[in-house]
Amino acid sequence: MKVFVTGGTGYIGSHTVVELIENGYEVVILDNFSNSKPEVLDYIYKITGVKPKFYEGDCCDKEILRKIFKENEIDSVIHFAGFKAVGESVQVPLKYYRNNLVSTISLCEVMNEFNCKNIVFSSSATVYGDPKELPLKEQMELGKTTNPYGTTKAYIERILSDLSFSDKEWKVILLRYFNPVGAHSSGLIGENPNGTPNNLMPYIMKVAIGELPYLNIFGDDYDTKDGTGVRDYIHVVDLAKGHLKALEHLEDVEGVKIYNLGTGVGYSVLEMVKTFEEVNNVKVPYKIAPRREGDVASCYADSSLALKELGWKAKLGLEEMVSSSYKFILGQKK
Ligand code: NAD
Ligand code: UFG
Repeated sequence: MKVFVTGGTGYIGSHTVVELIENGYEVVILDNFSNSKPEVLDYIYKITGVKPKFYEGDCCDKEILRKIFKENEIDSVIHFAGFKAVGESVQVPLKYYRNNLVSTISLCEVMNEFNCKNIVFSSSATVYGDPKELPLKEQMELGKTTNPYGTTKAYIERILSDLSFSDKEWKVILLRYFNPVGAHSSGLIGENPNGTPNNLMPYIMKVAIGELPYLNIFGDDYDTKDGTGVRDYIHVVDLAKGHLKALEHLEDVEGVKIYNLGTGVGYSVLEMVKTFEEVNNVKVPYKIAPRREGDVASCYADSSLALKELGWKAKLGLEEMVSSSYKFILGQKK
């Protein structure tokens, strides 16, 4: 089975490529390195012993997409390529709408041309907006998105749903990720954003290695167990395995299926900091700062549908999330 992975050298994409190769899939990657580095391909080879076929280019460009489909008999597509920085999307919304929407539309048009109509898409818990009820379930009405990035995810969900409604041959799985963290056990691939990180775990990692002086905890007056924000952190390797389960079940899908990929357990920011310190025996200094605009108090998944229908469940706990993150960032420092 040949799988085309857009954005396959990125954080979640690279972990998924490793799982795919280790499970006997043939992988073809397209990435333009707008948020990843070519070295990731060497690391994938080091981990798996296989060099996946790679194309450097833009997923908005239908010519390169056609070339890929011509040169490879693709069975299914996993579409990771897109921009994901929430704050930046507020500053430069058109950049986000163009890249995330145009890449998806171009991809689907070319898939249609080549009669490949199986797609797994990276959506996000962000489409639920401010949760009215927890845990979040797939059939809940979607909330108002709070930033252009989130809106692109909601639009793409809609585009893919309309497409599958118009043509029953399309089989679509939308995976709504919660908060992916952690790294591969090899320590070779993980998340190391350029510049100052926006997300909690990469920030903690940089504080732990002394690259940043302290963590700002955005608010300690939420209605949560200790006043700090609660999220459903999921190990990226578990998340990657969720994509394999989705691929296995894609053939049975009629139209669109949506699955939450989370653990169902919410941890607070303080719990994350304390666990990181204890497990890795390192200090993570922090200060309490004002709330960050757009943040919700708590967000966690009901992932029972993925268990029931895909046979998928997250297995790795918080200890593995924080230890693999630390191992990865120490390796990056060398
Ligand atoms: P990432 O930035 O590490 O990976 C995305 C990859 O896509 C990068 O390698 C980038 O270079 C590439 N890319 C971007 N635009 C492209 C284009 N037009 N053509 C070709 N390549 C392009 O991000 P990630 O964390 O691995 O996220 C993967 C997907 O999952 C994204 O769609 C993201 O929105 C979604 N998602 C991520 C999170 C998260 O917290 N990490 C949460 C929910 C959903
Ligand atoms: N936080 C801090 N300090 C920081 C960074 C984050 O206290 O420096 C807190 C936040 O206030 C929040 C928690 O840590 O309570 C998690 O924040 P992240 O920025 O790591 O993650 P978010 O839940 O805000 O959003 C992430 C992705 C989105 C995605 C969403 C899905 O950034 O793209 O998860 O749930 F949509």
